[in-house]
Parts: sequence; C-alpha cells; structure tokens
Amino acid sequence: MTDLTQQPPPDGLTGRLAHPRYPRSSAYDARWIVDHQMGPHPLWLLEWLAPALGLDTLPPGARVLDLGCGRALTSVFLAREYDLQVTAADLWIRPEENARQVAEAGVADRVLPVYAEAHDLPFGEGSFDAVVSIDAYQYFGTSDLYLPTLTRLLKPGGRIGVVVPALREEIDGVEPPEHLKPHWDPGFWAFHSPVWWHRHWTRSGAVEVGTADWQPDGWRDWLLWSEVCAEESQDEFMAGMARESVALLRADQGRALGFARVVGRRV
Ligand SMILES: C[S@@+](CC[C@H](N)C(=O)[O-])C[C@H]1O[C@@H](n2cnc3c(N)ncnc32)[C@H](O)[C@@H]1O
Repeated sequence: MTDLTQQPPPDGLTGRLAHPRYPRSSAYDARWIVDHQMGPHPLWLLEWLAPALGLDTLPPGARVLDLGCGRALTSVFLAREYDLQVTAADLWIRPEENARQVAEAGVADRVLPVYAEAHDLPFGEGSFDAVVSIDAYQYFGTSDLYLPTLTRLLKPGGRIGVVVPALREEIDGVEPPEHLKPHWDPGFWAFHSPVWWHRHWTRSGAVEVGTADWQPDGWRDWLLWSEVCAEESQDEFMAGMARESVALLRADQGRALGFARVVGRRV
C-alpha cells in the first residue's frame, strides 16, 4: 500500500499546499493529488462539504455513491477518513484504472469503481445512505427532471451533497460578464448561484435543502491550486487546463466565480 499521508515536515509540494482550512487533505501526498486531479482540488472541496453533509455522523460502513468521481481521489478520501463503503462511479475514467488506483491506496476493500452514466445508474432504489459529487454535478444535474432520478437511490432520509463551480449571482441576458469574455467557455453556462441551486432542488420536491451556500474566498484556493498544477502537472493536457484556469481566475478576482455547496435530505 502506498503511504499517502506524510509525517511533518512535508516535502516542498505538500508543504506548499498545506492549508489550515483543510487539515485532513493537507496530510495527503500532494504529488498523488496533482497526478490524479481533473480540475479544482477535490479533497479541499470535499473537506468543505463534509460538515454540511454530516459525513462524521455516518456510521462506519455506511454506503456512499461518489458520482462523477474522476480518478477516485475523493472515493479514497471517503473510505480512509470516514470508513465508508464507497461506490466510485464515473463516465470518463475506466473502472479498471480506478481499481488499480484504489488498490495502491490500500482501500480496495472499501471502494468499488464502476462505469456509470449519471442518467442511467445501475443501482436499485434505496441503495445508498449518501450521495457525494465533487465538481461533476454541473455536467448532468441542471435539468429540472434530474434530481428525483438520483435521490430515489437514497434510503429514506438519506443525504446528498454536491460542490460545483458556481456563479456568485446569476447572469442576466445571454452574454458573459465583460471581464470574462476572453476566457469564457460555453460550458460555464452550467454554473449557477447558490440561490439558483436552492430553488432548483427545493422545487424538485425530491429533497429538503439544508445548505446552499457560497464558499468565502473559494476562488483564491482554486487559483492557488491551479497555479501549482500549471507548474507541477506532468500531463501536458492537464497543465494546459490549469493555465487556462489561472488566467480565468486572475481576470475574475472573485467577482463572479467560485464554488457552491448544496446539501439535501431525501423527503
Ligand atoms: C472535472 S471531472 C471531476 C472528477 C472528480 N470528481 C474530481 O473532482 O477530481 C468531472 C467528472 O464528471 C464525470 N461526468 C461527467 N458527466 C457525467 C455523466 N453524465 N455521468 C457520470 N459521470 C459524469 C466525468 O466522468 C468526470 O470524471
């Protein structure tokens, strides 16, 4: 098993990413995270979600669906930090690849990687105590009809928590903000405000919303992380993505972009 947690003093990269707001994440090998990242720092976002979702209150062995898990960093974290049984579901990353990754992390007994399309999930009603989704729900969850198809997989009273890239406030009209025009991607129209998410989930009738809020200064963490990935990523495609995020976030300075956290309980 790979040693993912380091004893202090950490090496340069892990030290550079040690963050007082994210003590659990800071104990993980930063090289491992950089090499498997697919966007904003997933463990930081999950650590922000954890208290709102009440991850600490789930009993050991509770069943959690990590939807859009990517390279399963968050799945490993959920298993190691909270002793949960995690189904690591993703569309773009093959389960064989994630199976190797979770075995190396020493949690093959607690994380099951599966290939899954969010609109066609191969699980029965009431299979999970919780659903977690980090930087993925915006790809499939903005349809008015989607949430009830997912929450039917929760046990009654089960919880769902997502963190998504977000807008501080909704944008009127059809043009991006002027200062973001040089960096805008049409995919950003799937970003919404916490107020939008609160209404979106509440009127679905599928959940009682407990939290829908904005991460104070989340953009600063996103920028710091992107700067590190732009320098340190050994994958040229991911390094290029990180450079684009750096340019976007420096242009924005937190005016429009950041993260929303949304938590609900199945009614
Ligand atoms: C930006 S990556 C984030 C991955 C991971 N959660 C993380 O934070 O490192 C978005 C993930 O969403 C997944 N995804 C996008 N659309 C999906 C869909 N329709 N069904 C299942 N997963 C989807 C992709 O496979 C991808 O791994």
